[in-house]
Amino acid sequence: MGAEEAILAFGRFMNLFRRLTWLEKRLLVSKLYVQEAEYSHPLLPKEALRVLFVSDIHAGPYFSRAQEETLSRVIEAADADLILYGGDFGQKPQDGIAWLKRQRVQKPRYGSFCVPGNHDRISTEPFERLAAAAAEKGIRALQNTMASLPCGIDLFGADDFRTGKPDGDALRQTAAPGRFGLLLCHNPDALPDMLPPFYHLALCGHTHGGQVALFGRAILSSSIYRSRFLSGWKQLEGADILVSNGVGVSALPIRIGARPQVNLLTLRQGETGRRTLRETEAQVWLQEKETK
Ligand SMILES: [Fe+2]
Repeated sequence: MGAEEAILAFGRFMNLFRRLTWLEKRLLVSKLYVQEAEYSHPLLPKEALRVLFVSDIHAGPYFSRAQEETLSRVIEAADADLILYGGDFGQKPQDGIAWLKRQRVQKPRYGSFCVPGNHDRISTEPFERLAAAAAEKGIRALQNTMASLPCGIDLFGADDFRTGKPDGDALRQTAAPGRFGLLLCHNPDALPDMLPPFYHLALCGHTHGGQVALFGRAILSSSIYRSRFLSGWKQLEGADILVSNGVGVSALPIRIGARPQVNLLTLRQGETGRRTLRETEAQVWLQEKETK
């Protein structure tokens, strides 16, 4: 048995233990949080925009139907103008496709978009099949392409750093001066290869906040830059970056020091600024929504 198979076998055992014990509802790995933040920039449209960023769902054996139901309710209740998926829909591409098939068609004002993650493409399963399943639910895949949104935002979507080829030069050529550039990119490791930035704000996932993180450092980092892009707000040559902890887990069904999260951003015109407002457990956030 190789090291990877041994980890997966141990993960299956941990998952069974988790599901069969009273721990299930108490463990961080079973939860979801909604992190709300504000971001302002002079080039953003006058009318504020609500953007829901959902990354690293990792649908599959470690993502229960109860978690799936909570995520679907949050996506609906967020009432976002724009929904962005940061890749890794499933543990395997087939898991991601199955998750997509169970979702409702989404119709936010400015659309839904996604980029590929490293779990969305394997040698026997190209990203195109998952992209087709996403399209059936109103989610448009971007792979080194740009979508010009009617609100004045250019949305760039990069290919995955590990399993594809992020093409910063191709994206840069589509950037229009005077428009706000929002980059959707699964793995923040791609960003240092795309300098100087042609975007103002990048939304990334992949790191899972370390998944198991102590004192702000990942125990086992999935990044070639270790903990540099671990979680939260970052900057690179004047551009802002938000790295989400993501929703699900990979390898092992465990999270320590890295809350599973979706990110609800309000983008508004103003002096450049970024501010995390609060992070609320999803069930509490949903209850608040229902009572308003
Ligand atoms: Fe992931």
